[in-house]
Amino acid sequence: MADARTIGVLTSGGDAPGMNAAIRAVVRAAIKNGMKVKGVMRGYNGLIHNDFVDLEMRDVSDIIQRGGTILYTARCKEFKEEAGILMAAENCKKAGIEGLVVIGGDGSFRGARDLTNLGGINCVGLPGTIDNDISCTDYTIGYDTAMNTAMEMVDKLRDTSQSHDRCSVVEVMGRRAGYIALNTGIAVGASYIAVPEKKFDMDEMLGKIKAAHSMGKQHFIIVVAEGVAMDIEGGSEWIAKQIEAVTGIESRATILGHVQRGGQPTVTDRVAATAMGYRAVQLLTAGIGNRVVGQQRGEVVDFDINEALQMKKQLPMDLYTIADDVSF
Ligand code: ADP
Ligand code: F6P
Repeated sequence: MADARTIGVLTSGGDAPGMNAAIRAVVRAAIKNGMKVKGVMRGYNGLIHNDFVDLEMRDVSDIIQRGGTILYTARCKEFKEEAGILMAAENCKKAGIEGLVVIGGDGSFRGARDLTNLGGINCVGLPGTIDNDISCTDYTIGYDTAMNTAMEMVDKLRDTSQSHDRCSVVEVMGRRAGYIALNTGIAVGASYIAVPEKKFDMDEMLGKIKAAHSMGKQHFIIVVAEGVAMDIEGGSEWIAKQIEAVTGIESRATILGHVQRGGQPTVTDRVAATAMGYRAVQLLTAGIGNRVVGQQRGEVVDFDINEALQMKKQLPMDLYTIADDVSF
């Protein structure tokens, strides 16, 4: 009897809660389909340095509830060069890896596309990033957990902000995308939300704070996406100082940072990761590569990887308007 076909699975780029749930689904679905699975350690580095681990059913027990990634993750410069990709493809072939599930963001998908086209290894991408900034999907693995973590943190900040009659400027993650900022901002009742998709207008923000202050509002939450803060010298600290200087309201800045990338994945992340991981295995089982799996209107979908990389996604600005209208 011929050996079972073998697929690999790796996590790449920034980690996201739910990546373990995706790994689990890939391993279990593949084994049920008669395939063997190798975990590739530390993203594309593992392909270049032959760092593979056999994954059996029980090796992915007890991980569905854990944040981070049991396969570790990394950014790999060598993989951006043709020589690195060819070496990775060669190593896959030597290890018998015929297909690969790549869990990561857009950058990781570009790598997957190159490995398919230059190296002849069928790859399927799964969207894993807290930023929700992958165009072909409404939803990325890790996004829901990150928003809930940010919301919990800001709720705690509100307690102290309220007790001191202060303004809390909270910086959330999202270098290029304002999804976390917009949704968290709405969920915590922020007075103002600054997202990378809209040019930051200091006067507009100060005007809102001053107007509400003059009508008796005493404490404020301002949510700023990392991408906005990065473009301002002094970042969130400077925004807080400006608020204090102009309005007289004592202000503090808090950068939530990498805490948003950790923790137990929510139900939504675990379910999305499982359903999308399952689809990735179905594709590879059918010998189909060069695809990215996503979720649209609650349905699991898949696209040609080039098509997926060219799609554009817009932050829902109507939601931004709602947030603005209900803030005070
Ligand atoms: P993300 O996948 O979260 O977008 P990165 O952009 O850092 O994260 O990409 C992760 C890894 O994917 C990179 O370190 C690199 O190994 C690989 N990668 C990124 N861009 C490319 C590219 N254009 N060609 C080949 N590989 C790439
Ligand atoms: O995972 C997404 C993200 O958190 C971005 O919002 C942020 O810009 C980036 O990753 C930072 O990643 P790192 O600190 O690992 O370079």
